[in-house]
Amino acid sequence: MNVLAVETSCDETSVALVRDGRQILANVVSSQIDLHRPYGGVVPELAARHHLELIDAIATEAIQQSGISWRDVDAVAATYGPGLAISLLVGLNAAKGIALALGKPFLGINHLEAHLYSPLLEHEPAFPMISLIVSGGHTILAECEGIGRHRMLGQTVDDAAGEAFDKVAKLLGLGYPGGPAIEQQARQGNPAAIDFPRSMLHDPGDAFSFSGLKTAVLYYLRNHPRFVLPDVCASFQEAVVDVLVGKTVRAATEYRARSVSAAGGVSINGRFRERLRAAWSGPLFLAPPALCTDNAAMIAALAYHKLLTGQRSEFTLEVAPSVGLGMDTLP
Ligand code: KG4
Ligand code: ZN
Repeated sequence: MNVLAVETSCDETSVALVRDGRQILANVVSSQIDLHRPYGGVVPELAARHHLELIDAIATEAIQQSGISWRDVDAVAATYGPGLAISLLVGLNAAKGIALALGKPFLGINHLEAHLYSPLLEHEPAFPMISLIVSGGHTILAECEGIGRHRMLGQTVDDAAGEAFDKVAKLLGLGYPGGPAIEQQARQGNPAAIDFPRSMLHDPGDAFSFSGLKTAVLYYLRNHPRFVLPDVCASFQEAVVDVLVGKTVRAATEYRARSVSAAGGVSINGRFRERLRAAWSGPLFLAPPALCTDNAAMIAALAYHKLLTGQRSEFTLEVAPSVGLGMDTLP
C-alpha cells in the first residue's frame, strides 16, 4: 500500500510517499528555518503563506522522487493537529483535494501520535514501550502497548525542552534554533561547571518543568558577566538531559517496558542519545535525525497501520490545533 502524506503543522512543508508503513519512497521536507530566524521563532502567518506557496511543488517533487505515479497512490493522509491552525489548514486541505481527485481513502493523523510511532519506520516494535516526545512544542512521556494503544504519563507543565534550548540560546546570543547551537558550544564545555536545577527530576509523577532552568541561566548570566559560554551551554544541556533521561528510564523500569523510544527535535541531541544509551540497557529506538524533526514520512507510516485496521476520515474533518495525544478507540 502506497500512502501519500502531507505535514504542515508548524514550519516544515513536507510530503512523503511510504510503502507498507516502512519503505520511504520519498520524504521531501522544506524547512522554513531561514524565513523565521530573524524573528527568533515561528511566525504563524508567514509559515502558512509559505506552505501555501510551496505545497503543490513539494507534492509534485515527492511523486517524482518516489518513482511511482499519482495512479499508484492507494491512500492519502495529513496531519490535522496539533499545530498552528492556519498552517494545518493548508496541508489538510491539500491532502483532501488529492484524495478526492484520485478517488482514494483519506485519513487525518495526530502529529504527536506520529512522533510517538516514528521510530517504528525503522525498527520492529517491542511493546510495552516507553516513549519520549521531546520537541520545540512538546515534552511528553507516554506508554505504548501497541500501535494506537497508548496513554500519556506526563508532560511539561510550562516550557517544552526544545523551547528551553531556544530561549537559552537567545539569552546567549546564539540564534535560532537554539538546540544545535547549544550542543555545538557544549562540546568544548564542562557539563559540571555550573550546578543548574534539575526541576521535578525526583518528583513522583512523570511531569516535566523547564522554565525554572531557563530563569536560573538568566540569573547566572546576570551575576557572571564574564561567563564561559561553552561551560554555560554544557551545564545547561546536562541539566536538561539529566531530567529527560532520568525520568524516561525511571518510567521504563516502573512500567516494566520492553523498549524505550524517543523522537522530536531534541532527541537528535548527541549528549541525550549517549546518556540514554548508557542508562537503558534494553532495546532503544531512536529515529535518524531526518525522522526526528517534523516530516511527512512519519505521518504516512502511522496512517498505513491505521488504514489497515479500516480507519478512514470524513472529508469534513477539521483542523484541531490544540488536540492532545489521543488514544485510539479501536481495539
Ligand atoms: O521536532 P521539531 O523539529 O519541531 C517541533 O515540532 O517543535 O523540534 C525543534 C526543536 C527546537 O526547539 C530545536 O532547538 C530542538 O528541537 N533541537 C535540538 C537539537 N536539534 C533541534 N535540541 C537540542 N539539541 C539538538 N541537537
Ligand atoms: Zn513535531
